[in-house]
Amino acid sequence: MVTKKIAILFSGSGSNLEKILEKVHNKKFRTCKIEVVCLICNKKDAFGIQRAKKYGLDTLVIEHQDFPNREEFDKELVRIIKQSGAELSVLAGFMRILTPFFTQNIKAINLHPSLLPLFKGAHAIKESYDSSMKIGGITVHYVNEELDGGEIIAQECFQKGTMSFKEFEEKIHSLEHELLPKTIIDILDN
Ligand code: GAR
Repeated sequence: MVTKKIAILFSGSGSNLEKILEKVHNKKFRTCKIEVVCLICNKKDAFGIQRAKKYGLDTLVIEHQDFPNREEFDKELVRIIKQSGAELSVLAGFMRILTPFFTQNIKAINLHPSLLPLFKGAHAIKESYDSSMKIGGITVHYVNEELDGGEIIAQECFQKGTMSFKEFEEKIHSLEHELLPKTIIDILDN
């Protein structure tokens, strides 16, 4: 059975990273096994680094402030990802704007906590909760040079009803924890 290799990039808590490790890493599917071969984080204190350790995986910390500009940082990411042999990279809470050098060299998907194309950027959960929309939702999309702008692969939504902000946020995360692993499998197991 063929093994398909993926890279995961993250910046923070890593709850989505952990769900991928739990549901996808080293698991066999219909046509392939999927292996996480590369973990990259741009924040040395990110909790996701501890979560990965539980699965015996080390994270490469590459801090963007160590590079003179975005493109030099992205060149290092591309070099490491290519070297790992990963055919798909997953941005799981990776809070960096990527340059065309990255997007043209790496096939990547991103998880975003709103129904794109609405509420792009870093405050999507708050903005969608505060909006007059009756539904909230999440998106997984391909990464291109436009921030949160690539082709949409999968979305889930739900009725806001009378949810508090905390409940809304929890609902977003619980949907993310299902949809991101499922989308990775859908892309690779074909
Ligand atoms: C997730 O909610 C993800 O959608 C969001 O960061 C969070 C990471 O959580 N990503 C973005 O906002 C990207 N623009 P996690 O670290 O617990 O996985």
